[in-house]
Amino acid sequence: MSAHPDRYLLAGVMGWPVMHSRSPKIHGHWLERHGLAGHYAPLAVAPEGLGAALRALAPLGYAGCNLTIPHKVAALDLVDEVDEAARRVGAINCVVVKPDGSLSGRNYDGFGFVESLLADAPDWGADDGPVLVLGAGGAARAVIVGLQQRGARRVLIANRSADKARALAAEFGAEPIGWDERSTALADVATLVNTTSLGMVGQPPLELDLARLPRRALVADIVYAPLETPLLAAARARGNRAVDGLGMLIHQARPAFRDWFGVMPEATPELRKIIEATL
Ligand code: ATR
Repeated sequence: MSAHPDRYLLAGVMGWPVMHSRSPKIHGHWLERHGLAGHYAPLAVAPEGLGAALRALAPLGYAGCNLTIPHKVAALDLVDEVDEAARRVGAINCVVVKPDGSLSGRNYDGFGFVESLLADAPDWGADDGPVLVLGAGGAARAVIVGLQQRGARRVLIANRSADKARALAAEFGAEPIGWDERSTALADVATLVNTTSLGMVGQPPLELDLARLPRRALVADIVYAPLETPLLAAARARGNRAVDGLGMLIHQARPAFRDWFGVMPEATPELRKIIEATL
């Protein structure tokens, strides 16, 4: 770091609670690596304070912020412009303060998801064949937007609550699948993604029979605690490529850092180890 920087770079993550967030570790690592004087702070912002907190970014000299639970949806009505990905996902995970002080809302979760797959499996393509998405919550929306932006054509959605699968499928031009049909639907799937909380520490495992899944299919789990979910272990054991959820967390942070500070940072093995040590 230079002794007298002419500008001290500031960003942070607004959440409630926020101390569990790994984002300060990720962005702090990049600031240091790039020799930039600055700080990325955990910002504990209660829901009723979100509007005032966002409006304070510009006068405080913040380049922007990330948003996490419970602010991602509420922020849509509080920023001045919303990019296409954020509009389609229906949530903002990154706010950028523009030169005139106005706030731009973006969503890089879908980008992060797809980038993490490509980082692990460079020859994978979103248009390799049908995609089966398990779950129909906010994470499913981001994953579907990311996949469709990269050319995914046929997307199948299976969710415990059938009405949510149907609504999401209608919105995104996808096909709803019955939750009980999830194992049989694997027959010609090229990409399988778990976006439910099943398999997460403290949650029941995802029950899924992989017998029909083609061996060339890629299996991704957005759960990252544990890193190796029972789904990923089962996929790997039968020879499928398997990608854990930590990459999405790291890769969604890259374009945010670029938007704020002007450098696209790398998702290095070293950074991954630092975050793994916090799980
Ligand atoms: P997120 O924003 O992380 O996607 P969410 O909106 O709460 O979180 O979505 C959680 C997803 O996990 C939902 O698809 C949910 O299914 P329902 O829509 O039926 O609730 C799914 N999920 C959670 N627990 C589940 C369980 N025990 N069995 C099947 N699906 C489950």
